[in-house]
Amino acid sequence: MSTDAIVLLKEDHKEVRRLFREFEGADRHATEVRADLVSRIVEALTVHTYIENEVMYPAVRERVPALEQDILESYEEHHVADLLCAELDVMAPDDERFDAKTTVLIETVGHHMEEENDWFPKVRDALGRKELQEIGAHMLEVRATAPHRPEHPSSLRKAADALLR
Ligand SMILES: [Fe+2]
Ligand SMILES: [Fe+2]
Repeated sequence: MSTDAIVLLKEDHKEVRRLFREFEGADRHATEVRADLVSRIVEALTVHTYIENEVMYPAVRERVPALEQDILESYEEHHVADLLCAELDVMAPDDERFDAKTTVLIETVGHHMEEENDWFPKVRDALGRKELQEIGAHMLEVRATAPHRPEHPSSLRKAADALLR
């Protein structure tokens, strides 16, 4: 099996898009189905952004300095998606903002996943096959212990307080 980092990340993107389409095609009144789909979207995104944040982005930043600004933007886009995921994770599916928030998440992440056409090809050009395989293998290792649910802003605040004390 290939562990090429770009191949692995694009497979994740494909699965996320599939879940997005399922949500968009679901009956508006099928609250349980929609809630289940959102839960799966949140889980897929939590794992995926984690391995990009922890492995892919730092690896690219170090090896391809010309992509620094793209990487920084990607971190910010992840940050916005993380906030929406954390909110959706604790929101009741019959809340009037549940669908709207999910739609904004889909729009935001849909735009963000353009990274695969935007700068992934530049990474492919800059790095060798072997290097991409190594980065991918590292991603798979990190994926095994990646969080599956979002960290919540309140728990983040507690962690920050503890650090400042
Ligand atoms: Fe990303
Ligand atoms: Fe991604």
